[in-house]
Amino acid sequence: MADATWTAVDEYVAGLLAPHDEVLEAALRDSEDAGLPAIQVSPAQGKLLYLLAKSIGAEQILEFGTLGGYSTIWLGRALPAGGRLITLEAEPCNAEVAARNIARAGLVDLVDLRVGPALDRLPQLEAEGAGPFDLTFIDADKIHTPDYFAWALDHSRPGSLIVSDNVVRFGRLADPDSDDPSIPAQRRLHEMLAAEPRVEATTIQTVGAMGYDGFNIALVRA
Ligand code: SAH
Ligand code: DHB
Ligand code: MG
Repeated sequence: MADATWTAVDEYVAGLLAPHDEVLEAALRDSEDAGLPAIQVSPAQGKLLYLLAKSIGAEQILEFGTLGGYSTIWLGRALPAGGRLITLEAEPCNAEVAARNIARAGLVDLVDLRVGPALDRLPQLEAEGAGPFDLTFIDADKIHTPDYFAWALDHSRPGSLIVSDNVVRFGRLADPDSDDPSIPAQRRLHEMLAAEPRVEATTIQTVGAMGYDGFNIALVRA
């Protein structure tokens, strides 16, 4: 559960620094109306993804887990003309909502939405020679985070960023005996990162309207 103060601060910050325009509002409204769970990134986190993408001049972005396209819109807005964001979504119903939201955001030329379980879609991306990706955002089913990370790393370049969402899960990350099925995967991700000479990484805990969680950022070494 989110502490009232965390929510108030999230709303204060978003109101000034990550305000919603009509397109983002409509994306959330249509997602809710379609019955999608409200598990998208917060406005402040969406702004962070946008800032990260802009700060590295990202032109090729990969996203695991589209939902209704909210994070997709933040990331897509950081792309220059001619850039490309491939976003992978398992649920056709979610993808339908996302496609409408992406279209309303004017991002159809930049966003390539692929429907199906992400691991099944990756061989096709491989065959197409997709990437290297300047930024990857991993936010799909949590048990596969390490698999998505490994693929993203193999399809990155020196200087690429790989951001993984929901790695802390109310602090369960520190509990080796957690019965949350996502936790062994998040711990495996951290062990991979510790042993992986190709990246430098850190995890930041977050609080906000969505409660207590956190994200990992990995930078691919030169
Ligand atoms: N990134 C979104 C939120 C994603 S929620 C945002 O912040 O706006 C997680 C999404 O991952 C859900 O839509 C879910 O359907 C999708 N998902 C679950 N398992 C998946 C899989 N195996 N491959 C691709 N997407 C998956
Ligand atoms: C869940 C998924 C997310 O990506 C998130 O940011 C928060 C919650 C979930 O599946 O519960
Ligand atoms: Mg998430």
